This record gives sequence, structure tokens and C-alpha cells, in this order.
Amino acid sequence: MKTLKNNSERAKKHLFAAQTTYYERPLTLVDGEGTHVRDDEGNEYLDAFGGIATNTLGYGDHEVARAVAEQAKKLTHVSTLYLTDEMLDLAEKIAEIAPEGMTKSFMSNSGSEANETAALVARTAKNSVDFLALEYAYHGRTLYTVALAGQSNWRNFGPQMPHVAFVPSPYCYRCPMGLTYPTCEIACAKAAKRVIETQTNGAPAAMIAETLAGVGGIITPPPEYFKVLKEALAPFGTLLIADEVQAGWGRMGDGIFGMVSTYGVVPDIITSAKGLASGLPIGITITRPELADVFKGPHINTFGGNPLSSRAARVTIETIEKKQLVANAKRQGNRLLAGLRDLQRRFRTIGEVRGHGLMIGVELVKDAQSKAYAPAEATQFLEEMRKRNVLVGKGGRFGNVIRIQPPLIFDDADATEFLHAFEESMAALPG
Ligand SMILES: Cc1ncc(COP(=O)(O)O)c(C=O)c1O
Repeated sequence: MKTLKNNSERAKKHLFAAQTTYYERPLTLVDGEGTHVRDDEGNEYLDAFGGIATNTLGYGDHEVARAVAEQAKKLTHVSTLYLTDEMLDLAEKIAEIAPEGMTKSFMSNSGSEANETAALVARTAKNSVDFLALEYAYHGRTLYTVALAGQSNWRNFGPQMPHVAFVPSPYCYRCPMGLTYPTCEIACAKAAKRVIETQTNGAPAAMIAETLAGVGGIITPPPEYFKVLKEALAPFGTLLIADEVQAGWGRMGDGIFGMVSTYGVVPDIITSAKGLASGLPIGITITRPELADVFKGPHINTFGGNPLSSRAARVTIETIEKKQLVANAKRQGNRLLAGLRDLQRRFRTIGEVRGHGLMIGVELVKDAQSKAYAPAEATQFLEEMRKRNVLVGKGGRFGNVIRIQPPLIFDDADATEFLHAFEESMAALPG
């Protein structure tokens, strides 16, 4: 089991330095089963981050493995120049579960590509290059999606693509407008009007928004937020793009798409990726025919909708339905939220516990009064959790938010194991 190679040295020598890893001593993972994964030293971990909210069905799901193996023997790749039943079966299934009228998809390989496609569609449909995004947003690592990032640490590509204006984030714990919910009357969403009037051509093509900002620290908008935002955009004809790369496929616990099920708002375009194919590369842009079809092409995507990822995606969706994993995300999410809020009363470093379903953030601060960011504590917390054989993620503009986004098959025993390790790791932090 133990690899005799020094993987940190190999990575330093042959991978781009920009490809950062977690932990002082990076972890090399070799195999996994269900919610647990093993490293090259034989240690087993409960994975509460799921390869960045991607391993929807955990590790080694038998149905996905069987479908992919069968498919690999039959047909792996043809490109979008040809049709396959696998691609069409997936497109039909998505049309069936998407909000009414959103019957068309474009398939690609990643969240970044899904967002690029949405931007192209919106720009063409609205004949406008201006775009709105949210402060603290993250939409990918391509040139345009970096320009949509609302965090300076992710905008590190030199001069940015122009024509993007930023709307204040619904980050209630640190309200950018200095207000308090609910007396704020969702002023941050209403601010979109002022941003459009002062910083754009007056008719931006679209506003892109993560339903919950994942990389930004699981920023969780108040219940009315997207309704108020959509109303603010409507007079300008500005489309709303829901980036559900992290929040989609039931993770938020109320339905397949969080903006629709948890916030009751149907966007004009939905983008997703990550969890859709349980770990196989995929990206998808879903919209109504009148928007999809204004974009005439020609447009290809070599691997988009490839038979392997398409089969894995169909099995993933069917398993989510069959095993009622949306309800499980709600149940286990509520359990984790309650347990973490109990711990918040004991540990003054826990500033806020927030999220929906199995998309949870715990913001660490020096103390509740000052709310001073605690990034060093968050880094140490990850190490403490590792010592207790649990993997979690980290986010927030200053790296002080613990991210909990496990596979949707997370069960009662996992939740108990997780909360126990969380409590012990908090207790191990200084202060
Ligand atoms: C909300 C969101 N959008 C887009 C992306 C980009 O996805 P990818 O890394 O697959 O390009 C990410 C990745 O973390 C994301 O969290």
C-alpha cells in the first residue's frame, strides 16, 4: 500500500506551482469506499469534502462503476459532431428534472466551461457585453470566469477582461452595507439597480450568482434574496444565471436545484458540473429553447457529453432519486447544523454556522465580538481533523471558513463520527 515515492518532491518537480494542495504534508489518496477514502500509508478518512463537493455517491459506487466499465468497452468517445444515445438520454433526463421550460442543455467538461457557455448565450441573446457578478464569487479558472471572481486572491491573472461590475454580496454575517437582516429589506439585492445604472451600459446581458457561494465561504443568502434580486434585474432585461456547480443535484436538501427549491426562484440559465457525474468530468449549461437557440454556432466541444460521463451522470441522477438522497442531504444537513451550533456555544472561535443541506460553512474568528478573521486557526483545524481521520475543506476570502460538503450518502454514523472529530479538533486549537 505504501508508495515509496516522495510525492511532494515529485509534485514540486513536475506540476505547476500554482496547483496548491491542502496540509503541511500533502495527502496522497489511493482508494475509497462509500464515504471513506484511504491514503498511501493505509490511513482511512471520513471524507466530508468529497473532492470539492463532487463525489455525490461517495467512492466506488457499484452502479456508476458498472455503467462506466460497460460503456468503456463499447464506446468511450465520439465528439459532439456525432450523436450518441448516452448524451441524448442524459439531455432528456435533465429536461425532465429541470424547471419547466428549461429543456435544452449544452454539455462540456467543467464548471468553468459551463459558465463560459452561459456567458456566450447571454451576450448573444441580449446583444450586450456587460455582465454583473457578486462580490466573493468564484466561477472558475478560465480567463472570463476569473474576471467574474469577486475575490482578489482568485483574480491573479493580471489585467482582467472588462465589462464586469460587482453587486454587494448577501453576506449577512459581514454585511457589506453595514445593515442587519431583516430590517435591511435585502438592500444588497436592490443595490443591483444602482450598480447597473452607474457601472454598466445600462442593460447588462446577465448577472451570474452562485446560489450559495462555495469558495467564498458558503455564503448563505437570506430566504427572500433571489426573489428580490430577480425583481431588481427585470426592468433592465438582465438575465439571471444560477451557478449551481456546487449547490446542484440535491446537495442543498430541498430539491435538485437549490435556487429553485430552496429559494423559490427559477433563473434563466443554470450551470453545473462537479457532482453531476459523481467524479467523472462534466459541465452543463441548461436553459430555455429561445435562449439556447439564439446562439447559432458553429460550436463543438470535443469531450462534451462523452458517453462515459453521460452514463455516469444518468446513473448518479437515478441513484439520487432511487435512494432519496435529497431528503438524506436535508436530514443529515440539519443534524450537522444542529450539532455544530451546539459547539458554537462552547467555542468562541466559531463565529457563524451556516448553509443548507450538505453544504455547510463554519466561519472561524478570533472572537465573536471582533469577528477578526482566523485563517491560521482554520489551517490548523484542517490538520487536527486529519489527525482524527476526517477530511474537510476551507474557503472564504481570508481562508477562515471550514467547508463541509460530503457525499450525499452521508449517514447517521458518519454524522456522529464527524461531530465527534469536529469537537475534539476545536478543543485542540489554542485559546
Ligand atoms: C461555483 C463554482 N463555479 C464554477 C467552478 C469551476 O468549476 P471547474 O473547476 O470544474 O472548472 C467552481 C469550482 O470550484 C465553483 O465552485
